[in-house]
Amino acid sequence: QRFPNTQTEPDNLTSGSRFVRACQRKPIDRTPVWFLRQAGRYMPEYQAVRKHHSLLEICKKPELAAEVTITAAERLDVDAAIIFADLLLPFEPMGLDFEFQAGEGPVVHKPIRTYEDVTRLRVDKASELGYVAEAIQRVVAHFKERIGVIGFCGAPFTLASYMIEGGSSRNYIAAKTMMYRQPDAWRLLMEKLVTVLSAYVRQQVDAGADVIQIFDSWVGVLSVEDYRDFVLPAAKILIREVQSFGVPVIYFGVETASLLPAMRETGADVLGLDWRTPLGETWKSLDYACAVQGNLDPITLFAEPGLIRERVKSILTQAGGRPGHIFNLGHGIVPGTPVENVQHVVRFVRELSAEVGRG
Ligand code: CP3
Repeated sequence: QRFPNTQTEPDNLTSGSRFVRACQRKPIDRTPVWFLRQAGRYMPEYQAVRKHHSLLEICKKPELAAEVTITAAERLDVDAAIIFADLLLPFEPMGLDFEFQAGEGPVVHKPIRTYEDVTRLRVDKASELGYVAEAIQRVVAHFKERIGVIGFCGAPFTLASYMIEGGSSRNYIAAKTMMYRQPDAWRLLMEKLVTVLSAYVRQQVDAGADVIQIFDSWVGVLSVEDYRDFVLPAAKILIREVQSFGVPVIYFGVETASLLPAMRETGADVLGLDWRTPLGETWKSLDYACAVQGNLDPITLFAEPGLIRERVKSILTQAGGRPGHIFNLGHGIVPGTPVENVQHVVRFVRELSAEVGRG
């Protein structure tokens, strides 16, 4: 581990140790900040690389994935870099073909629908994802201890939803139907995903990732009962397993306000909050029992800097300087976002979080 727990005093921190300490709810001098989708289509440097390479090519060529990751983190001057990859990459070694179609998002060619389909999924080929670990190694070698490096994977529910629906979905009818009507198939699918994801994340941690974010982006479509019955057990096993590798886990989804108490039961170190839930009240309602990450509305980045500053200040004030807040958006940066507004947020967080009372 690059940032052992006991290290430096709070006033002698690098951005990397600041970020890791925040995940562990240890006191620090100012709030760390990074952005969901910080490397993406809003950024001209990314578009320039995308002109010559497909999304999957970038993911699979460690030198390109590392370049895109590093460029975004340096341009924004953030406290952590998230490795450039995609949620769906583990589908390939499991034997499931997919592609990204322009404007449509991911498409899985033969979605999983039956118990037989689930039994055919392979769980022993996660090593084929070694290109992600290799990209992480490059990013770590570049930044050294300066900033944190975040690895990630999808959570079992969100990945299963793509496997079963075959792509993005509105009502998740196919996925929920399997949950309700073929609980054995569903459970086996959750189990297989945990096996593959755990091996995949292990490679990322061995490569030097400081923190792992688990994206359960669409889990907010579930009722609390369904989350508890069909998803929480697998999420808990995966998160505990990743923690046993020695790194903090950030567990993130959108529209999760009513699920957060159950999500906290996974034992995740940090819960990602979207912007629909007020950070101060929500954190309090969780008894401050975990760290929180968020939660500026990404569309605020289309506003004037003055208003952006007010919103940043409001979130920092709600967090109250309490140890365990990582500033971020409530969801990813969208295409068309002015890069300079993202940079403003970084400046505002640095400026204001030193002012807003700490501790
Ligand atoms: O800095 C970063 O965050 C970049 C790394 C990253 C990508 N995907 C690259 C990417 C991360 C963390 C992801 C995670 C991801 N992938 C999620 C969870 C994140 C979330 O938003 O909650 C999901 C649901 C996916 C699956 C996925 N990949 C979708 C639905 C899409 C299409 C989205 C769209 O707007 O078209 C992608 C494509 C994708 N993955 C892009 C990027 C930068 C944009 C498309 C491109 O460059 O062609």
